[in-house]
Amino acid sequence: MIMTKSEAYTLKYHITPTQGLLNDPNGLVYFQGHYHVFYQWNPYGTEHKNKSWGHVVSTDLVNWSRKKVALMPSKPYDKDGIYSGGSIVHDGKLYLFYTGNVIRNDGSRASYQCVAVSEDGEEFRKLGPLFEHPAGYTRHVRDPKVWQDSQGTWWLIVGAQRENLTGDALIYTSEDLIHWSSQGSFFEQEQSFGYMWECPDVIQFPEQDVFVFSPQGLEEEGDKYRNPNQSGYIVGLLSETGKFLGKLSEFNELDHGFDFYAPQTFKTDNRIIMFGWMSAMTGEIEQAVPTIQEGWVHTLTIPREMTLEDGVLYQKPIHELQLLRQHEEHGEIRSNGQWNLPSLAAEVIMRFTKLQESFQIVIRNDVQIEFDHEHNHLTVWRTNWLTNEKEHRRTVLSHPLAELHMFIESSSIELFVNQGEEVFSLRYFLEDIQERSIRLESAGIEGAFSIYSLQKSID
Ligand code: FRU
Repeated sequence: MIMTKSEAYTLKYHITPTQGLLNDPNGLVYFQGHYHVFYQWNPYGTEHKNKSWGHVVSTDLVNWSRKKVALMPSKPYDKDGIYSGGSIVHDGKLYLFYTGNVIRNDGSRASYQCVAVSEDGEEFRKLGPLFEHPAGYTRHVRDPKVWQDSQGTWWLIVGAQRENLTGDALIYTSEDLIHWSSQGSFFEQEQSFGYMWECPDVIQFPEQDVFVFSPQGLEEEGDKYRNPNQSGYIVGLLSETGKFLGKLSEFNELDHGFDFYAPQTFKTDNRIIMFGWMSAMTGEIEQAVPTIQEGWVHTLTIPREMTLEDGVLYQKPIHELQLLRQHEEHGEIRSNGQWNLPSLAAEVIMRFTKLQESFQIVIRNDVQIEFDHEHNHLTVWRTNWLTNEKEHRRTVLSHPLAELHMFIESSSIELFVNQGEEVFSLRYFLEDIQERSIRLESAGIEGAFSIYSLQKSID
């Protein structure tokens, strides 16, 4: 049966797979005139199997062309999956670090931290595993990310699970990218925070450093940790010996929406840019995603620029996204209002000058954004496409609400609050695919809005 993507839920300016299943962003890098985004990809089906690295490139970070698959399982050390990892450029070559997933004949599994190299950014040669599996850790060791310090030493961080089933991250160093020595755990003291840390990443800002990771197994606490797994960060300092001086008790979720997970950052032109996976969900909900019927599933987020302001990681849509703007409409907000999205690939900005009471915004007659004036909290509601029930995510805002900046597609919304101080990302699947309304319900509210249609930027 030939399956094609229908217009109903296809995304126009997000990186999605042509077919099969996409998950984490991998290997983000600028190399030989192009930005490269790789992603976890099962090209053969919509299950979490056969993971390879899909590949797209761009000269402006918003218009993408597809390349052939970069890494496929082929070796004894990666035969059952090319799992997540990062990349670096050295001596004019592109190195991809990844985890080789292996299922042995007896059904037990193993993981290997591996590297592949390319001269042209298209053909990759596998160089094999980098080091022995660490003692004291289960087979859950994965997702290597590498960077170089100012002395030229290479550093590698990898997510891990201790034998006592708690999460950790491990550090390795190398002078030549081939021989690696263990520097032990990333934290001085063993602490229990979830059962496994996936996709660890370190962002170095001039004043402070940030550890970004995706811990599995945090218990729900009120409005926090409500997704199957979480992605977040702690601010601290990276010592010269590779220890992170920061407190796990200060963990902040990166995104307050439903489906955000496994982000990765890279540095380019003095900016830190992050992509995340915007479709992490339980298996049951995943299999109910309508696009599974079309043979494809999931999407990355739009690229976000990360800045650290007063110890808070801000995420702003990168300015290049403005290149996609086509039709535009501007106007004033005065109490109630209703607009129509010019297209289902749109951007909407609302700036408030007067906000005297609670309000709600209803997008496409379904997704609701509720602002509670008294408690200064924001709640986002969607309809769960498996159960048909309304479900919500909420967070208290750190500052008075001044701006809502939304990137709306036919089946995704990314909502940036107050210049990226808080973000909510979500997937949604409406039966009424023609519906385009945005309704604002309130009395004491004034401000201005802009609505843009955005052009298609990937096939
Ligand atoms: C995170 C993750 C990674 C792993 C990859 C496999 O979503 O589980 O830890 O490398 O996905 O696809």
